[in-house]
Amino acid sequence: MIGRIRNLEDYTVAYRTSVNEPEAFWAQQAESFYWRKKWDKVLDWDFEDYNVNWFKGGKLNITENCLDRHLLERGDKTAIIWEPNDPKEPNRTFTYKELHSEVCKFANVLQNNGVVKGDRVCIYMPMVPELTIAVLACARIGAIHSVIFAGFSASSLSSRVQDAEAKIVLTSDGAYRGAKTLDLKPIVDEALEFSDSVEKVLVLQRTQAEINMQEGRDLWWHEELAKADDQNAAVETDSEDPLFILYTSGSTGKPKGVVHTTGGYMVYTWYSFLNVFQYEENDVYWCTADIGWITGHSYIVYGPLLAGATSLMFEGVPTYPDAGRFWRICDKYQVNIFYTAPTAIRALMAYGLEHVELYDLKSLRVLGTVGEPINSEAWHWYHDHIGKNKCPIVDTWWQTETGGIMISPMAGITPTKPTYATLPLPGIQPVLLDSEGKEIEGKGVEGNLCIKFPWPSMIRTTYGDHERCKQTYFSTYKGYYFTGDGCKRDEDGYYRILGRVDDVINVSGHRLGTAEIENAINLHSAVVESAVVGYPHEIKGQGIYAYVICDGDMVEASDLEDIKKEVIATVNKAIGPIAKPDKVQIVRGLPKTRSGKIMRRILRKIAEGDTNNLGDTSTLLDPSIVESIKEGAQ
Ligand code: PRX
Repeated sequence: MIGRIRNLEDYTVAYRTSVNEPEAFWAQQAESFYWRKKWDKVLDWDFEDYNVNWFKGGKLNITENCLDRHLLERGDKTAIIWEPNDPKEPNRTFTYKELHSEVCKFANVLQNNGVVKGDRVCIYMPMVPELTIAVLACARIGAIHSVIFAGFSASSLSSRVQDAEAKIVLTSDGAYRGAKTLDLKPIVDEALEFSDSVEKVLVLQRTQAEINMQEGRDLWWHEELAKADDQNAAVETDSEDPLFILYTSGSTGKPKGVVHTTGGYMVYTWYSFLNVFQYEENDVYWCTADIGWITGHSYIVYGPLLAGATSLMFEGVPTYPDAGRFWRICDKYQVNIFYTAPTAIRALMAYGLEHVELYDLKSLRVLGTVGEPINSEAWHWYHDHIGKNKCPIVDTWWQTETGGIMISPMAGITPTKPTYATLPLPGIQPVLLDSEGKEIEGKGVEGNLCIKFPWPSMIRTTYGDHERCKQTYFSTYKGYYFTGDGCKRDEDGYYRILGRVDDVINVSGHRLGTAEIENAINLHSAVVESAVVGYPHEIKGQGIYAYVICDGDMVEASDLEDIKKEVIATVNKAIGPIAKPDKVQIVRGLPKTRSGKIMRRILRKIAEGDTNNLGDTSTLLDPSIVESIKEGAQ
């Protein structure tokens, strides 16, 4: 089959061709799909005044490739297996035929409610099959989906809905997460208080919680569905029409809407899915991510369905009802390919092997990780106890902006090395740059990771603000896409991601901007200023350490413990539980240079507990501040 890499030699040839003849290489991959009209030109690009077009002039509908195309050969094959939060609740499965029919019905629901091509649809839902159906239904009618992780607060949801000027919001009454039942609809109600663009809210019944339905705006999902036909002619889109917006954090305060388009994203998510995981036709594949993040978009929904795979969706959490849940699900469905985050592995490691030993895990063939660096201990535990020393681990490095996996072993083909993402996929040309922007050649070197040639699923713009996209990714190093990650290339030419070099922290595989958290902390009326840094955290990878200056007139020394709790609650309300600081230290000042810049390097060292090695502090406005922060450190 076109596109398949089966051994190291295939990889070497594919890689070489992809660099020497990128257009021919990607055109060949794109031939696998159904295009209503073939492209006129494979690639047009400019990294200076950023603009990239893949498969220019091509016309298609991505859902015809995810669904219709499979109906003849795989109509009765299971497309989606859904495992509920509560193991006692029945599961649900959808064949390709059934999924096609559900997507068509919901596409009609959207159209009946006035949604047309180009409209933005915000989706704030739990991990239920209707979420996947809604995503695909948007794509079917050419609407742009913007999925917002259902753990975000009303204010985070509100800013995303407003930025995207969404016409409709899809949600549910509530959500189950482990032992907790969460209300989602009241959060949507609060978020929409200041939105003028949203005309309708469609509400799925999940928890049967009592909720308010606003007359004229809110509609029940099941009632709308009952009126809809199961035939829907897919709307033709251009290869470069936006498929979705996904908000992600950066080093400045406001999350940005990463825009992905259709043709290139389709080709690359399919190609990377097949090859990285070495997917086989009858495999059961499970990615534990939430569809609220890019991993869920590319490797629960699009990549697997484009490949005609069986993709498992899990509503719950790894530790409910107990820490063996993942492994029980692997046995229950005889999962062959399992893809998760290092933070989940570390958390489960801490619960002990007794939760693993109850299960046989014999069906597993390939294991994957994503989202953050995997430490050696977690890698070995995963390899030995879950993979029983026989499953290759693919440590996949990529980003919301890259759309698909960029650096990773091909399972069972690329020799692995713990903590290394290893080698670039065909089509990906990574380089390491020094602080002057010069390419660092050779092996055994470190630098800032950039990509010097376009790949099909790369970010096209940041929604509504192309300048911001250019500034963020293409201005640090002229002519290169800058990833924000530091990276090492070792003696074997293998890449190891060292972590972010900007003010972005990675907490349990979730990306958060320090400025975004600081803005949230500063909402507290007694806070004058704050600075947030990441520090190594055993389970989360990085924890959040907040240094906070309070207004002396408003706060008594005896109130400090309460203030800390309030600061945490303020962040919870402003962003959501994922951004809650792990440690809050009230300080009398921050280490600033004479020009007023906070020296975060010092704050990071103190948070790490490495206080003997703070470097030169003589340029600080008030060096004594450092001593007082050190004394109060946690
Ligand atoms: O720092 C890298 C880290 O996660 C960042 C991207 O985060 P996000 O856009 O949320 O996407 C996560 C899922 C694709 C990167 O800049 N990262 C991601 N994967 C790895 C990683 N760091 C080390 N190893 C990885 N495998």
